Amino acid sequence: DSRPLAATPPMGWNNWAHYMCDISEQTVVHNADALVSKGLAAKGYNTLTVDDCWMTKSRNSAGELVADPARFPHGMAWLGDYLHARGLKFGIYEDAGSSTCGGYPGSGQPQGGGPDHFAQDAATFASWGVDYLKLDGCNLYVAPGQTKEAAYRQAYDAEAAALADVGRDIVFSESAPAYFQTGEWGNPGWFSVLSWVGKDGQLWREGYDIATYDPNKPGTSRWSSVLTNYGYNRWIGRYAGPGNWNDPDFVLAGAPGLTADESRSQVALWSMMAAPLILSSDVAALSPAGLAALGNTALVSIDQDGLGRQAGVVSTNGTTDVLARPLANGDRAVAVLNRASSARTISTTLDSIGLPGCKVSAKDLWSGASSTTSSALTATVPAHGTAIWRLTPNGGCAPAVPTGQVTGNGAH
Ligand code: GLA
Repeated sequence: DSRPLAATPPMGWNNWAHYMCDISEQTVVHNADALVSKGLAAKGYNTLTVDDCWMTKSRNSAGELVADPARFPHGMAWLGDYLHARGLKFGIYEDAGSSTCGGYPGSGQPQGGGPDHFAQDAATFASWGVDYLKLDGCNLYVAPGQTKEAAYRQAYDAEAAALADVGRDIVFSESAPAYFQTGEWGNPGWFSVLSWVGKDGQLWREGYDIATYDPNKPGTSRWSSVLTNYGYNRWIGRYAGPGNWNDPDFVLAGAPGLTADESRSQVALWSMMAAPLILSSDVAALSPAGLAALGNTALVSIDQDGLGRQAGVVSTNGTTDVLARPLANGDRAVAVLNRASSARTISTTLDSIGLPGCKVSAKDLWSGASSTTSSALTATVPAHGTAIWRLTPNGGCAPAVPTGQVTGNGAH
């Protein structure tokens, strides 16, 4: 099979943004069952990842990681079997430093230097049936005279080599770029790290943590967190392609803190950006609007399109953004985000999205309605909403050219 691992963006679930360290076998089983019963697993949401705090605070006498027996009474191999028996995949969290962000044993070198555990831990994960590894980047040891970037590259290269040796396909999610994003543009380290992570793994966290769930303040800042992560990720499409995905962090659609339109927007924007669709919520409690957006197969097939081209920004004015991405069958996806707190009627021309002179059939992916146009697309977009269409050229235009890419795309 010549298709790369993660030929399309990974989809699934991770506990972190909803449960944080309150993780257990029961939580994973509950969400796995909900993905199946809600029909989301059948739509591709199939990889469940156990995030930080799953292990004991120290390794066993053989130096191996140990799952916390209070949280995971049947052990991790049992959990892998439980997921595999339902057609699901098993993801786990570790860290490239001496300890995880939560203070549990890391796979990387101890502070001060010394032997790492990359190969040993990769073998442990493979023995548990792990299919996906999220390797965080807290507490990395930087040797004297070494640059921070060189230390990260050494650690992530070492994990990639370890995974290549375990005789099992394990999708590798890297957090390295997130440790170089200063929150300001012009940090050359960030771009430098983004340029090598694709050699080691299939996806990478590029920035901030999406806002976690606070039961006392369920609405606090989750929409602004979605916009912040979108705001960075929209510009870095040039690093994405089949087997290599920018990860703007978890999908909160349908979870407490986002309205129905905000939930729809996140799914539309993440799909335009060919982002991993990794839910981090209580799946059984998803809102009906969120569940409908997540299960919208026309949208999921934009995210999972085989060409693997992340959308580029066609225009942005601070209130509205227009995004466009070419699709494998020659169609084009176009989306319009409205950041304003009231509805806006927004138009974009076929010229501006790289289809000059075309006549297109435009399918609105929310209503399912199709219309024909040879000039402009117009929509009234609700506050914090996103309009999204799939355009099929109906003749009149030259063969599709991959435009709509302010930053340039397809660098590999
Ligand atoms: C970091 C990561 C989060 C989560 C926590 C766990 O903050 O970015 O996604 O994994 O660590 O401690």
